[in-house]
Amino acid sequence: MRQVKTLGLLGTGVIGGGWAARALHFGIDVIAADVKPEMEAWIRGAVANAEPALARLTSAPLPPKGKLSFTTDLNAMAAQADFIQENIPEQLPLKQRVLAEVSRHAAADVVIASSTSGLMPSDLQKDMVAPERLIVGHPFNPVYLLPLVELVGGARTSPEAIEAAKRFYTYIGMHGLKVRKEIPGHLTDRLQEALWREILHMVNDGVATTGELDESIVYGPGLRWAAMGTNQIYHLAGGEPGMRHMLHQFGPCLKWPWTKLEAPELTEELIDRMVEGTAEQAAGRSIRELERLRDDYLVAIQQVLRQFDIGAGRTLKALEARLYNDAAAKAPAAAPGAPLRLAETVVRPEWIDYNGHLTDARYFQIFGDAVDVLLRRLGVDEAYRAAGHSPFTAETHVRYLAEVGQNETVYVTTQVLDVDAKRFRLFHGLHRSRDGVLAATAEQLWLHVDTKAGRTAPMPARLHEGLAALAAEHAKLPRPADAGRGISMQKG
Ligand SMILES: NC(=O)c1ccc[n+]([C@@H]2O[C@H](COP(=O)([O-])OP(=O)(O)OC[C@H]3O[C@@H](n4cnc5c(N)ncnc54)[C@H](O)[C@@H]3O)[C@@H](O)[C@H]2O)c1
Repeated sequence: MRQVKTLGLLGTGVIGGGWAARALHFGIDVIAADVKPEMEAWIRGAVANAEPALARLTSAPLPPKGKLSFTTDLNAMAAQADFIQENIPEQLPLKQRVLAEVSRHAAADVVIASSTSGLMPSDLQKDMVAPERLIVGHPFNPVYLLPLVELVGGARTSPEAIEAAKRFYTYIGMHGLKVRKEIPGHLTDRLQEALWREILHMVNDGVATTGELDESIVYGPGLRWAAMGTNQIYHLAGGEPGMRHMLHQFGPCLKWPWTKLEAPELTEELIDRMVEGTAEQAAGRSIRELERLRDDYLVAIQQVLRQFDIGAGRTLKALEARLYNDAAAKAPAAAPGAPLRLAETVVRPEWIDYNGHLTDARYFQIFGDAVDVLLRRLGVDEAYRAAGHSPFTAETHVRYLAEVGQNETVYVTTQVLDVDAKRFRLFHGLHRSRDGVLAATAEQLWLHVDTKAGRTAPMPARLHEGLAALAAEHAKLPRPADAGRGISMQKG
């Protein structure tokens, strides 16, 4: 299976738009194909709408954004894509027909994944050429923020196709959950539907409003579910003896039963109650407004969970490690007779302040990303930090010399000035790529810290020797005129 540089989308509605936003953000080109030409404007709008929340998800260095193109020629898309994600309406004969057609135009090593919420892969692959590369890759709305994607193979799917899909989804920041057996609705929608049926019953029977039922989740189980699933939570609910006690205590009531599960008749009256109830909950806010609110808290929750290395936070943490590693691998090697060139990045719209230029805090971030590249090369990575050591910044002096605007490409050069057993001193330049102008300098003092003991500690040999070798090489360069400069207001 091939490396994915271009994602082809078949159907560009709600879900296709979400896939586009996520893939583009992480540097994958997207060819979006839909039978309706008007969907081009729609998908471009959907990508723009997703961007503010996606941009806040991580401050790790990102590759340049992917390029989005649109076509109504599904077969042309299939001929160019490295991976195809199908998101057309949930109708089996339609999906079967379109997947069969597209499979004739896509090379046999191109994975074709269906976003289907409930159809079975064995049915979808029925008439396809090279059916072994068909999988279900079922995402959740909004695809650009929720990491879960269920991976389901059909009778003829190869394990390689599932592995290749998992690799690609991981690359764009997702959590691939392999489903062992194909069943209608996969795992999550089967669970969600059980809850949904109970909701419809309780609204139908006049037991509760839609708002009260949502309260019953968001103030309680919903908070737990973000990091631990029902099974783990019930294990805790059993006290010291855990799940066994829980089952003895509450198992008998499963026989009563509390739940109905057969769906109620969808009468006009029930539909009205559901519609009126949710409209009241929206309290005049548009779908767009509510989506923004949802996106903002989804970003915030994942960032909090990252601190606990749990659930979606663990996925985010792994994504960031990958992004930092890729940035380090991409940076040019040290060249004798020149400062290091460690980071190159595009100034993103959200980095701009009210004067229209790169805002102060982002200079620190860009210089920080450059140092991350340098330190990774000398062995300071996630494992090193987890083992209890990390260099800390003790002091930074930034000079702002020229303006840097939105979408400018900038790069950082770095000179190692001094190093001793526990400290090192760096001098950076931030340059505009278009004209090489030095836009800012930063001088930094770093301390090597034993994070468990909470105090400075000697560097390990690899780090110390690496920095010392660079310092010796950089001593041959002219010493930066601003090195050691303080801040003053000279008279006259
Ligand atoms: N909406 C969700 O929450 C959600 C979540 C997960 C998965 N899904 C699944 O994703 C798929 C798409 O759902 P959606 O909500 O994005 O639907 P949608 O109606 O928003 O989009 C479907 C798109 O497919 C296009 N289309 C129709 N026929 C086509 C054809 N022959 N060739 C190419 N394009 C065609 C339509 O023009 C439309 O733009 C479904 O299988 C659905 O089950 C939906």
